[in-house]
Amino acid sequence: MGGMKFYKKTLRDVPLEGKTVLVRVDYNVPLTKDGKIDDDFRIRASLPTIRYLLKDGCKLVLVAHLGRPNGIDPTLSLEPAAQRLAELLGEPVRFVDKTIGEKVRMAVKRAPRRSVTVLENTRFNDGEKANNESFARQLAKDTGAHYFVQDAFGNVHREDASMAAITLFLPSVAGLLVEKEYTTIVGAMKHPKRPLVAMLGGAKVSDKIAVIERFVENADRILIGGAMANTILAYNGVAVGVSKVEKDQKDVLDALYKKAREKVGDENIDDFLVLPIDVAVGKSTEETTRKSVMLADIADDDMCLDIGDATADKFVDIVNHAKTVVWNGPLGLAEAKPFARGSEHVAAALAANHEIESIVGGGDTADFVIHWDKKNGSSFSHVSTGGGASLELMAGEKLPGIEHLLDA
Ligand code: 3PG
Repeated sequence: MGGMKFYKKTLRDVPLEGKTVLVRVDYNVPLTKDGKIDDDFRIRASLPTIRYLLKDGCKLVLVAHLGRPNGIDPTLSLEPAAQRLAELLGEPVRFVDKTIGEKVRMAVKRAPRRSVTVLENTRFNDGEKANNESFARQLAKDTGAHYFVQDAFGNVHREDASMAAITLFLPSVAGLLVEKEYTTIVGAMKHPKRPLVAMLGGAKVSDKIAVIERFVENADRILIGGAMANTILAYNGVAVGVSKVEKDQKDVLDALYKKAREKVGDENIDDFLVLPIDVAVGKSTEETTRKSVMLADIADDDMCLDIGDATADKFVDIVNHAKTVVWNGPLGLAEAKPFARGSEHVAAALAANHEIESIVGGGDTADFVIHWDKKNGSSFSHVSTGGGASLELMAGEKLPGIEHLLDA
């Protein structure tokens, strides 16, 4: 898997020494109610590329978006991200409260070689979401950049100006994070060490159907938890009380089971698509005590909020026999302590077993493991910085933020 080659040029393939480099990063980080950075995982993930370029004596200009502003919104400024970057890097970081224009031109001109300047939120400009060419042209021109380095893995599924149109104006290559995310995730999907176990959770079947289908093709076993499991249990005739169940999934699930049965045979279907054998229930999502019950004992007014204790043990056993595990989606209502137990149990098994290549999808799953793990996620082989981006990549889709880069 480690040998998987990337199909695009990277920062290692172009002569960057001493050059001005425009770097797209994904600093779309969660904020606290009072506007502080709640989790700097994505900022930390950008450090290898930044350090690489600084070592090459480059003048770095960083661009990113934060949130979904409608025009200029001071609560979504990138200044706190620039400050956090300075702390993590242990070097000064300049911040300019504009993305294009005279102020940017002057600031970059004055910045010395081997320096980092962060520009203001790209989405304060209408041109960003519109993938507007003149906005991108101006970004290239005002920063005086010689090269564009794409390292915003979490945003590569967005065809925005600083992701796509910018590549029309600058020779564009991938950064180290984009390369690592791509080769790790695609490597696991295409050339996994087997057995490959996919563990899927989260709210909705419909959000992940493309990924589930892909795993039906390439995984050896698929474990299903989270609210998504309720929909599939209900489809299989289990009474799941007042659990959240997605309607209108019958045709989708008929097709999925048909495909799965064609692959493994009718007699093996439950060992291939593995559903919970018990569940942790509560009377509402506010429930504070965990009660694990067998499927037949789910009461009419119960809500299934996590996989049950026997299921958690079963999942751990399966995972421990895997060589590669791809995990996408918490297995229960992980933000509520009693219902995080299923996810915690499996996380602990993955973290303890270094024989397993463990790949954790971004978004909610990454949030969960990073908060759970005392080592900030490094107990796993790879924790993705991409939510939607990692899902689309797993589903085998082409991602515009990568497609537009120079071919290797
Ligand atoms: C993400 O957090 O998934 C990316 O940064 C993309 O952000 P968006 O969903 O607001 O486009």
